[in-house]
Amino acid sequence: MARPVTVTYAVWPTPAEVAAAAAECFAGAAAAAASVQGVARIAISGGTTPKAMFALLADRSQPYFERVPWDKLQLFWVDERTVPPEHKDSNYGMTKAAMLDHVPLPAAQIHRIEGELEPEVAASRYEADIRTSFRLEGAETPTFDLILLGMGDDGHTASLFPHTEAINELGRISVANHVEKMNTWRITLTWPVINHAREVAFLIEGAGKRDILREVLLGGYDPDTKPSQLIRPASGKLTFLLDAAAAAALPNDTGNAPPYTASLELK
Ligand code: 6PG
Repeated sequence: MARPVTVTYAVWPTPAEVAAAAAECFAGAAAAAASVQGVARIAISGGTTPKAMFALLADRSQPYFERVPWDKLQLFWVDERTVPPEHKDSNYGMTKAAMLDHVPLPAAQIHRIEGELEPEVAASRYEADIRTSFRLEGAETPTFDLILLGMGDDGHTASLFPHTEAINELGRISVANHVEKMNTWRITLTWPVINHAREVAFLIEGAGKRDILREVLLGGYDPDTKPSQLIRPASGKLTFLLDAAAAAALPNDTGNAPPYTASLELK
């Protein structure tokens, strides 16, 4: 049974403004968590959309760098491709070039998924790293302060692809997931862990995502075909940061052109 959530979607005219809103979301969540608990634990996605946000966070002339408590930030990944860190497809590699090489985040606070290892070994080592870093006991679930997700044009998020094993994984923190259609393995956080986060936000841009986004939010509930539908946070709240092209098929009862914010209830 899917948990009801309130979806808030903020729609910006351009990808550049989505990147700024995402940087604001990251900096705000990091500062708030660090001020309350002395540490901020954030998990980020790969792909292409987050790259501009990373560059803004690392840019000292922008209003975000100074607000991120880099000394108290523990950075994690939502998923990774089974490639070495220097490979062009590496999510870690992309983030390193766009942000990590330009910010004072100590190496011990960077929790990379070791995509170069045998997939199940990489998934187990990542799970062990998370358990240690969160000081988890027994079957406790980690509570990330913020998890930033993307969505593929097939409705996947993290590396939870349609009709793959990981969709049915309820107990593990991270798993190796075979993606037949891409003939590859991915390492991914599981959806119960994502739903356990204090805050979850999707960053989605471009007309290529318009129809799938409408299907995920307003279409029939079929997470095996549209895995992004599995994301129903325990907080009851889910945020989407969108550009106008991606949001073009969503209801806009505000009567305003972007930027606007609207919401809908997922039952
Ligand atoms: C990955 C991601 C994945 C991504 C979507 C969207 O490793 O590819 O983590 O879940 O968020 O594929 O990717 P784009 O931002 O490139 O559209």
